[in-house]
Amino acid sequence: MEYLRLIKYPGSKKSLLPDIRETYAGSGSGLFVDVFGGSGLVSLNINASRIVYNDLNRELVNLFAAVKENPAFMKESLERLLDVPARYSGPGREPVETEDSPAYYIMRRKARARNSQLLDRKSLSFLREGGTKIASGREIRAFETLYRFSTSFGGMGNTYGTQKEKSSYIYLEKTLHDFRKISSCVRRWKIENLDFREVIAKYDGEGTFFYLDPPYQGKDWYDMTFTRGDYIDMKHLMDSAKGKYLLNLGLDNSPVSGIFGQPSRVVEYGQKNQSSGGDNRSSGKIGFFMNFRKL
Ligand SMILES: C[S@@+](CC[C@H](N)C(=O)[O-])C[C@H]1O[C@@H](n2cnc3c(N)ncnc32)[C@H](O)[C@@H]1O
Repeated sequence: MEYLRLIKYPGSKKSLLPDIRETYAGSGSGLFVDVFGGSGLVSLNINASRIVYNDLNRELVNLFAAVKENPAFMKESLERLLDVPARYSGPGREPVETEDSPAYYIMRRKARARNSQLLDRKSLSFLREGGTKIASGREIRAFETLYRFSTSFGGMGNTYGTQKEKSSYIYLEKTLHDFRKISSCVRRWKIENLDFREVIAKYDGEGTFFYLDPPYQGKDWYDMTFTRGDYIDMKHLMDSAKGKYLLNLGLDNSPVSGIFGQPSRVVEYGQKNQSSGGDNRSSGKIGFFMNFRKL
């Protein structure tokens, strides 16, 4: 399945994308609110006319704000980071893909091997030097976040890759390849940095669809803790919401699924492809809790 992604992130929902898309399409709603947006994977691939991306993590929000407001700086920094050979691309020039020639193929392969070894040790000091498009301190921090969440093990943002991980260089090359599509998608988003209670109150209405992918209780993957009380608040808010919602929760080991009653649907994930990263690495069952029937 072709899809857009910007960073590696624990708990991102690649294998659920077709089910989430289908559920949203069957809701008849015009506004998609990604309440716990994380890596932005769902917002990038939902195909809704209006999208609100929200997360409490300021670093992630700052990253998407920079992609929205200064895509030229982010793209040019990616090119500089990857030392993209001049024939492939260059500052101010469009990538020219001439992969039909054997000489070009060999040059790319050599560059990849050399640059992959250099990437994890590479200094980002070029961000502060001349040559890149004008950027503020916030935009420089955003690029550092992009780098960290693309080169760290499993997207944790702080532990670095092993031999088993797909090369960071190849991962970032794909980001560069798709960057134009990613930034034109993000350009249309409204970006919020609110607690889930506030974003739900702000956007609730009859044409709204809330997608809820909260942190798993008992896993400290994210900077903030999410308590049982938070899940209970979410349940109360969703019971009284005017909008429609889809909440997904892992059923296999979730101490909180009882709060929400029986799921409307159970989706099995991760059975087919054990090696492709994201939530595909293991298998399990996810409950879809919804307050509507699909059209
Ligand atoms: C399971 S992840 C979401 C993953 C996302 N669906 C994706 O595909 O990348 C949960 C997210 O909730 C965010 N979060 C934690 N507490 C929050 C809160 N109180 N309000 C809003 N977001 C919160 C975390 O920063 C984290 O990015």
